[in-house]
Amino acid sequence: MSSMKDLLLIVLLHCLTSGRGIESNPIDRYGLDGESFHLDVEEHNNLTFKRFVWRMNSNIIMEYNLKTQDVDYYKNEEKLEFDKKTFSLLIKNLANTDSGLYKAETVNDDGVVIHVVTYKLRVQAPVSKPVITNTSDSEGECNSTLKCTVENGTEHSIAWLGNGINNTITHRRSSELCLDNITCKNWPLTCYAENKVSNSSETVEALQCERPSNSALQSNLWLILSVGIIGIITPIIIIIRIFWIKHRNKKKEEYLVKTTDASVGETNQSITTEYDVVRPERMNRPTDLPPEITTIYATVRKTSDKNIC
Ligand SMILES: *[C@@H]1O[C@H](CO)[C@@H](O)[C@H](O)[C@H]1NC(C)=O
Ligand SMILES: *[C@@H]1O[C@H](CO)[C@@H](O)[C@H](O)[C@H]1NC(C)=O
Ligand SMILES: *[C@@H]1O[C@H](CO)[C@@H](O)[C@H](O)[C@H]1NC(C)=O
Ligand SMILES: *[C@@H]1O[C@H](CO)[C@@H](O)[C@H](O)[C@H]1NC(C)=O
Ligand SMILES: *[C@@H]1O[C@H](CO)[C@@H](O)[C@H](O)[C@H]1NC(C)=O
Ligand SMILES: *[C@@H]1O[C@H](CO)[C@@H](O)[C@H](O)[C@H]1NC(C)=O
Ligand SMILES: *[C@@H]1O[C@H](CO)[C@@H](O)[C@H](O)[C@H]1NC(C)=O
Repeated sequence: MSSMKDLLLIVLLHCLTSGRGIESNPIDRYGLDGESFHLDVEEHNNLTFKRFVWRMNSNIIMEYNLKTQDVDYYKNEEKLEFDKKTFSLLIKNLANTDSGLYKAETVNDDGVVIHVVTYKLRVQAPVSKPVITNTSDSEGECNSTLKCTVENGTEHSIAWLGNGINNTITHRRSSELCLDNITCKNWPLTCYAENKVSNSSETVEALQCERPSNSALQSNLWLILSVGIIGIITPIIIIIRIFWIKHRNKKKEEYLVKTTDASVGETNQSITTEYDVVRPERMNRPTDLPPEITTIYATVRKTSDKNIC
């Protein structure tokens, strides 16, 4: 019974010391081994406090005093860097030992602690390039297997991927794929390794499969077909275009009348015009028509001039 009371007391105390009591779930963060990592404080604009504290796994690792604008305490000055404007914490040269719960808190003038944010940081080593080997183990269940080994990497998964194949395993250094039931349509096979901070893959082609001869033929057919189509259609278009241009020029010629010499009327007046392009819609009617209907005759020499477009 008393242990129950103790537990309640502890929970109560915990609620008091962590301010609001309700702590949101820690936010997952993944850092790359050897690199630096920023833990941000999103609502840094609205914080009022006397001291700002960063904890790692409940231990204080940094304490900042707003009044003096000084960092009063660093657990490891070489590893940590506090930003006095954004209150973010930079963790340098990440190592496995830096994985853990990072909690930001403020302490106000009355000593009340308010929880700001909690991160669950995990440091991962990048995966190394998968190495594929084939093992022919006559004693095993499989006549022929491919083995994919990923030497380095933290909490990574290894997947064998192919057409219609997806064998994924996690948290192991190598993954085997039985080839007995793999047909040519499944190739090529890729071993893909990844974790939260990196990925890498290696692909093998099937040697005995003469890689998709069928589809190669198909693509060749397509090539021949498209070359054929282009070879036929292009000349046709060019020919049509030439005919069209010729036709258009011809039409133009009909409107071109060069009246360099014309005899008009009863008196055979001679009119010489330098040049005239006569089109029905552009013809000018004379404004001062003779009072009576007079028949006049005109000879117009029509010469086409192909140079005019
Ligand atoms: C600060 O608080 C005010 C009201 O309390 C809110 O409107 C505003 O969005 C907050 N700003 C940030 C950056 O959280
Ligand atoms: C794995 O890590 C070790 C030590 O960092 C390194 O020497 C080795 O080359 C790495 N292996 C691969 C395959 O990258
Ligand atoms: C894997 O098998 C192929 C033939 O299928 C062979 O050419 C190759 O040498 C083998 N590789 C290893 C590492 O045994
Ligand atoms: C393994 O190989 C033997 C002979 O080489 C064959 O009889 C047997 O069917 C093979 N097993 C599988 C699962 O392919
Ligand atoms: C393989 O399967 C896993 C789940 O089993 C899935 O998360 C992943 O996206 C799949 N990968 C591919 C390339 O389909
Ligand atoms: C291969 O397929 C057959 C039937 O399709 C199945 O009985 C056998 O267990 C499979 N073998 C392996 C190694 O997956
Ligand atoms: C592999 O990692 C690169 C960054 O290194 C990323 O851009 C890419 O999206 C990743 N690929 C997959 C399938 O997650």
